[in-house]
Amino acid sequence: MFGGCLRAPPFCEDLYAMNLERVVHIDAEDNSASTRPEARPLRRDGETFSMAQALISSRQNVSPKRLVEPGPSAEQLDALLSLAAAAPDHGLLMPWRFILVPAEQRHHLAEVFALALIDRDPGATLEQIESAREKAHRAPMLLVAIACLGPRQPNTPPLERMVSMGAAIQNLLLGAHALGFGAGLTSGQAMASPRLHRLCKLGEGETAVCCINVGTVTKRKASARVRPLPAEFVSELADESTVGRLQ
Ligand SMILES: Cc1cc2nc3c(=O)[nH]c(=O)nc-3n(C[C@H](O)[C@H](O)[C@H](O)COP(=O)(O)O)c2cc1C
Repeated sequence: MFGGCLRAPPFCEDLYAMNLERVVHIDAEDNSASTRPEARPLRRDGETFSMAQALISSRQNVSPKRLVEPGPSAEQLDALLSLAAAAPDHGLLMPWRFILVPAEQRHHLAEVFALALIDRDPGATLEQIESAREKAHRAPMLLVAIACLGPRQPNTPPLERMVSMGAAIQNLLLGAHALGFGAGLTSGQAMASPRLHRLCKLGEGETAVCCINVGTVTKRKASARVRPLPAEFVSELADESTVGRLQ
């Protein structure tokens, strides 16, 4: 189904074959057809790890200013969202959702960005207001990522839900990268604006976290950021005698 529409760095070719095959499920209740990606067995070898390593380590945030048409097709978007659905999710709450803002609706988002700026800074210049507005029009594909942190059963803590949301976003970013697109996150104070909340029709406990921008990269950064070394973020639990002293 996806064969003709996928573009990707060569290291990802096998990943498509492994992960993007589609199956159709017919719901017995209402007879409606829906497609779900089938989880296929993964070869657990060095080659698969090398592909994962190449994909993950070569991803970098791309500013929406550098993203132009074409963006993902409808099928590619569907495939990317299916990757988000594979995020770890304690309690299977699906504590996040995404709102696609198509080109013809971007002016609403632009208006919210402009008015949110004026709310914060009534003295904003016309240039600043125009720049805020313009942010809604940059990338060919724009999703608003919403965290669902309200009361649910089981009532998994909000931090755990945010971990799930981060994983869902990362899956989507990596998928976009594997398809040959650039992707970047944008946020800012407008995310907390009641105007954005109204536009997105947020429910109880829902928060707009960031925008996910995807498109074709015009120009990459000269060099990716220097990533931290494991030694900078990993430590080992102290031995038993030290732990004892701390209790
Ligand atoms: C929730 C979230 C919001 C972000 N918002 C912005 C933003 O408003 N502007 C921006 O330039 N980058 C934003 N970023 C992207 C980070 O700046 C970027 O991930 C960071 O610089 C590391 O670069 P890398 O992703 O290429 O490794 C955001 C990232 C996250 C996780």
